[in-house]
Amino acid sequence: MGETRWPVLVTRLLPAPAMDRITSKCDMTLYDGGGAMPRDQLLAEIKGKVGAVTLLTDKVDDEFLDAAGDQLVIVANYAVGFDNIDVAACIRRGVMCSNTPDVLTETTADTAWALLMAAARRIAEGDRFLRRRQPWVWGPLMMLGQDVNGRTLGIVGFGRIGQAMARRARGFGMKVIYYDAYRPAPEVERGLGAEFRELDDLLAEADLITLHTNLSPETHHLINAERLAKMKSTAVLVNTSRGPVIDEAALAQALKEGQIFAAGLDVFEKEPEVHPDLLDLENVVVIPHLGSATVDTRIAMGLLAAENLIAALEGRQPPTLLNPEIWEQRSGRD
Ligand code: DGY
Repeated sequence: MGETRWPVLVTRLLPAPAMDRITSKCDMTLYDGGGAMPRDQLLAEIKGKVGAVTLLTDKVDDEFLDAAGDQLVIVANYAVGFDNIDVAACIRRGVMCSNTPDVLTETTADTAWALLMAAARRIAEGDRFLRRRQPWVWGPLMMLGQDVNGRTLGIVGFGRIGQAMARRARGFGMKVIYYDAYRPAPEVERGLGAEFRELDDLLAEADLITLHTNLSPETHHLINAERLAKMKSTAVLVNTSRGPVIDEAALAQALKEGQIFAAGLDVFEKEPEVHPDLLDLENVVVIPHLGSATVDTRIAMGLLAAENLIAALEGRQPPTLLNPEIWEQRSGRD
């Protein structure tokens, strides 16, 4: 008898090393269509599987878990964000779920930093300007931006990626202030030279504001019209977390009216759609959710998701579980 091959679903093509790892152990059903796996297909294909590798575009909720059946052991999400997963529903059914933290921290912070620089210094606007091929000449008042070096960076959400932003800020001689519902140990604050502020105080004080929160009912529209009004007219706002953390219509209005200086956005409220008003504005830099999009990082995410999947199926503890209590339950029971 050959070794057991686990029936699993993978909802999008992953980098080759991850696919190789999964197919070395599993009988894989792969959705290889253009975009996100259509919901009806997802619900049909998950039936009878013991594991799944899902993306942030796949909702893992009661309906999904019902469609899967009782044999489902693990849902390994290919993302650090897991707002697409109803973790409580997984816990109720004893299904493990995991994400891909750590391996994308520095790359995502790099992307946030690039957006911060691009928005503050009008890089994308300058690029568009030259591509119009209109005559121009250097001038003292031409396309002036805001300084990044020496300014105050406000970090909203001081987890792994928020802290990686604080490390970058030191190289730019910036003052760092942060807000998070959970404060880290004082030595973490000290080590990063970061000072805590209440959210509204941070918004009023910071020159550049970068968002690194999870999406939850508490953070939905955390940045709304009222909070935008607290920011400086020279402020630059960057979001690489999740789109719905910002009320996009309110942001477009604030940018249009010059209430804040500029924004750099990697994520969108109704992704993949971008609010049409934002696309008409020069003072916003938009990129299509590229936070973790480097060759090495996407491979690392794939290998971590694959390891979570295979470990669970082989009866080993998956390294980055969102509900480790289910592992405890299952390993105690087995
Ligand atoms: C994540 O991991 O949550 C990102 O949004 C995609 O890398």
